[in-house]
Amino acid sequence: MHLTIRQLKIFQAVADNDSFTRAAEVLHLSQPAVSMQVKQLEEKVGQSLFEQVGKRVYLTAAGQELLGYSRRIISLLDEAAQVLDEMKGKQRGRLSIAVASTANYFAPLLLATFNQRFPNIKVILDVTNREGLLKHLNRNDTDIVIMGKPPDNMDVDAHRFMDNPLDVIASGKDELAHKKNIRLGELQNRDFLIREKGSGTRIAMEKCFADKRLNLSIGMEMNTNEAIKQAVQAGLGLGIVSRHTIAMELETNRLVILDVESFPIMRHWYIVHPAGKRLSAIADAFKAFVLKEAEDLFNVNSL
Ligand code: PGA
Repeated sequence: MHLTIRQLKIFQAVADNDSFTRAAEVLHLSQPAVSMQVKQLEEKVGQSLFEQVGKRVYLTAAGQELLGYSRRIISLLDEAAQVLDEMKGKQRGRLSIAVASTANYFAPLLLATFNQRFPNIKVILDVTNREGLLKHLNRNDTDIVIMGKPPDNMDVDAHRFMDNPLDVIASGKDELAHKKNIRLGELQNRDFLIREKGSGTRIAMEKCFADKRLNLSIGMEMNTNEAIKQAVQAGLGLGIVSRHTIAMELETNRLVILDVESFPIMRHWYIVHPAGKRLSAIADAFKAFVLKEAEDLFNVNSL
């Protein structure tokens, strides 16, 4: 049967409207053009597809049979077009992501793995602290945000995808380095190196001490995890950082995790965007990838 998709669409329009005239209106064609296409289709299938009774046309048994197939063919074609469009979007898309500075310890590897699957995409990554991430969400100027805790006062779509334990760290030479069951109260007279205002890590750390009504003695304030780690190694004080940031230092024994009550503070990582945001095909694929695979890629609980 050498019939065309155009003929099937016209045939379907006549069947749906019970009329050649109305089908012609819907398709913005002339009525003779519609009749001609249906006639040619009937010649190709070798049977009548409609019978006319007064002004109304009715499908014949053959017409009814063909209509079922026609609907399936056209809907499959629509589906194929949609899938191909999506693939085009994913292969050439632009992905803009903003991550917490602490998340930047795993974000590059996450992006590298994703990039292997979609090599032609362009990624724009902004690394900032919690405050900066809230601004991105407010302005809706990035596809995806990865943060330690979704905001309470904004309408967002947030999914938790991985643990984010915060540990108390010390230099390997610290007097508490090998002590077991340290009470949090024992740390009250030790100086802590603390992240800048606006950092999610800092907020969690202050909350932990405040909840227990303990005093947190602040030594120096630094705006990166790297600076905190270096300062702790140099013996300038203790620190509280995400375990994601210290994998290398633990391996080389440059830093130790202290065995302190109530620690680790178990936080989590969330993938977030404004509620109702229409994600691009590539952003949607990235979100699905993170939710499905990130946890297996970065298992901090085994450190
Ligand atoms: P941050 O990490 O301390 O780098 O802002 C984000 C968070 O843990 O919420």
